[in-house]
Amino acid sequence: MPDPLITAATNARQNAHAPFSKFQVGAAVQDVDGRIYTGCNVENATYGLTVCAERIAMFKAISEGARRFTRVAVVADTETLTPPCGACRQILWEFCGNVEIVLANLAGKTETLQLSTLFPRAFDASFL
Ligand code: THU
Repeated sequence: MPDPLITAATNARQNAHAPFSKFQVGAAVQDVDGRIYTGCNVENATYGLTVCAERIAMFKAISEGARRFTRVAVVADTETLTPPCGACRQILWEFCGNVEIVLANLAGKTETLQLSTLFPRAFDASFL
């Protein structure tokens, strides 16, 4: 049985706008109602304005009113599974807390871990 969250992230990856790096990433975020929000990386000629797939999926979810999340999937075409970058880890932590992160590649390799493993001792609003 394919995981629908991985399927959604894999499909979203097809829309990646990555003319500079050629590195295509798809992401999908699931909320407590089972709804899925997807994203792909969108690069920019300035490079620095590039936005990762994970942040696009997360911001789409927030902008559509979702607030509580259960899982995030990240898909890239790498043998060693691609994890979220540091900036995305911060954003995912702030909106999802210690959520389940599913990493996958196009060959069907997957790994599931908690965000706290990738992003220990996070700074967040609890400190403010
Ligand atoms: N990228 C993502 O979208 N997510 C990740 O988890 C890692 C990196 C994108 C940003 C850029 O467009 C390309 O991959 C190369 O860094």
